[in-house]
Amino acid sequence: QAMTQDQLKQAVARAARDYVAETIAPGAIVGVGTGSTANFFIDELAAIKDRLGGTVASSEGTRKRLEGHGIRVLDLNDVEDLPVYVDGADEIDGGLSMIKGGGAALTREKIVAAVAGTFVCVCDQSKRVATLGRFPLPVEVIPMARAYVARELEKLGGQPRWREGVVTDNGNVILDVHGLTITAPAEFEARINQIVGVVTNGLFACRGADLLLLATPGGVEEYRR
Ligand code: A5P
Repeated sequence: QAMTQDQLKQAVARAARDYVAETIAPGAIVGVGTGSTANFFIDELAAIKDRLGGTVASSEGTRKRLEGHGIRVLDLNDVEDLPVYVDGADEIDGGLSMIKGGGAALTREKIVAAVAGTFVCVCDQSKRVATLGRFPLPVEVIPMARAYVARELEKLGGQPRWREGVVTDNGNVILDVHGLTITAPAEFEARINQIVGVVTNGLFACRGADLLLLATPGGVEEYRR
């Protein structure tokens, strides 16, 4: 019997919980990502909450779900040591570079990931790709720079579309860049960051995942950078 996508997400969430329980010291802080896979992880994390010193949330949605389970959520500025960050992805390639931001949480996700010692990516096999770019690349932009940044992104070969009606947790807007084939993700990530008005882009390549837990019908596979 075929596993549903939710069952795959559930399986990988449990594997991530076990990884966290086995690797972190008692009282350590855990960074928590955003999205449906991260939500399954949050529900699993509730079972080991007494062993955690607390969590850092990558979005308001994640913070609410954590607090709903009675899990402590800390301000990142009060956290010096963050051994691990667990989050999903919209696409991940063989070098463990990712496209993220389908849920518009990319900026806070990238900040928490930057602080974390180990980035654990949790996803089902549908997210695995040979080359990034089929999923439109989210770029968070200061509102007044939207049209300018869109023109600059066109010069880089993409077709940006404004995600109308969406305002990020930071009060900014999102451009989704279609039509890209990203063969050098770290260079492209840095290049987009040079455009004035860009807050963050959804390429996580300069700081990719360290460990990928990939849910397949045959079990959860592990890949390391
Ligand atoms: C949120 O902004 C994204 O980066 C998510 O990590 C991504 O969209 C994965 O979400 P799902 O687990 O729901 O696919």
